[in-house]
Amino acid sequence: MPAAGRHHRGHIVSAGQTLDPNVPGIGLTGCGIISQCLLEGAELAGIPIRAVCDVDREKAARAAQRVGARVRETYEELLADPDIQAVIIALPNDAHYFAALQALDAGKHVFCEKPLTTSAAQSLEVARRAEASGLVFQMGYMKRFNPAFSAVKQRLHQIAPVTTASFRLTVSGDPVLEGPGREPSSWHADIKRAGGGFLVHSGSHLLDLMMFYFGLPEAVWGSLRRDASGNEYTNSFMFRFPDGLYVSLQMVQTRARGLGYAGSTWEEIVEVNGVNGRLAARGADWMGKIPPRATFHPADGEGPRELFTFWESQWAEEMKAFVTGIAEGRCLGSTAADGYRVDYVLEQLKRLENESGALELRYEL
Ligand SMILES: NC(=O)c1ccc[n+]([C@@H]2O[C@H](COP(=O)([O-])OP(=O)(O)OC[C@H]3O[C@@H](n4cnc5c(N)ncnc54)[C@H](O)[C@@H]3O)[C@@H](O)[C@H]2O)c1
Repeated sequence: MPAAGRHHRGHIVSAGQTLDPNVPGIGLTGCGIISQCLLEGAELAGIPIRAVCDVDREKAARAAQRVGARVRETYEELLADPDIQAVIIALPNDAHYFAALQALDAGKHVFCEKPLTTSAAQSLEVARRAEASGLVFQMGYMKRFNPAFSAVKQRLHQIAPVTTASFRLTVSGDPVLEGPGREPSSWHADIKRAGGGFLVHSGSHLLDLMMFYFGLPEAVWGSLRRDASGNEYTNSFMFRFPDGLYVSLQMVQTRARGLGYAGSTWEEIVEVNGVNGRLAARGADWMGKIPPRATFHPADGEGPRELFTFWESQWAEEMKAFVTGIAEGRCLGSTAADGYRVDYVLEQLKRLENESGALELRYEL
């Protein structure tokens, strides 16, 4: 429950009120780095988390204490709890496949961190099972809830027809998989357990955003270069969409420091040009702690206009969407099918290490 007197924007429960009986009982498995963002989001939105589990009992105990949840010894115990209707899966990537299937088998709604699994075949299976279950299955692609990136989506019709677009991520200083807090033994840097390196870790978000804006690309070409450990260190691609739109995606890592705005080490820039204007968004850290920006340069020349004036937590919005989606019986974020499509495209992009021609993209879902 939220602490008394604290400001909560979600207002699903406020201090002193009893729980809305329609709010589902939510359990969380995996109390690591990302769980802290998700628990913060749930707290800000006033969404209670009733139970948590982790193989590391200390981490589970800390998370439980933070949000006033019970600790469950195992994931099976969490799923067997009749008070739990939905689970958040915040486990290492190679554990998503079984955890997601187990949750669906137990009849629980699922929020699964990205990527859906570590292979397109496994993701397709999970996505098909999720669709057949009728349960809500939301992916952890939270950039859809970032105010800058969602503002661009909302205004696309104002600059239509869209002529060109680009997505660029620059990570400056420590490379993503070597940064502070990354132990060499961490699963994050284990290309097999993570399903890939920089491309999977960070590019997956940009692919989800690209598909959110423009639908499914039908072909791609470009270049992917790995470092000695097999990590996709540099990625540069051009996607073709069915209506003839071409969109570029560039992912850069450089040891030069602080190249992002506000001196950040992380910067995502999205630029969409249309006959009637330009939309641009900049995110300066993946956690969204540094306020992002979005601008609109309209055709009438009265620009640029800032697109939002208040700053909300992308994590709170993401958690609210999950709970609201369960109440409405539909996913309000990135679906399991979207998760499969991202994983399928990621798998195709990895082939560009050895191929120079265009690859046709043929989705099975
Ligand atoms: N949305 C984002 O921007 C974002 C950012 C970071 C991580 N993630 C995703 O979140 C997931 C977790 O990443 P992380 O950085 O928090 O990793 P992490 O290693 O910090 O946390 C994973 C936790 O899972 C626990 N665990 C491992 N196996 C378990 C099992 N079988 N049962 C219960 N607990 C188990 C570990 O003890 C650990 O506490 C990954 O899928 C990652 O890709 C997403």
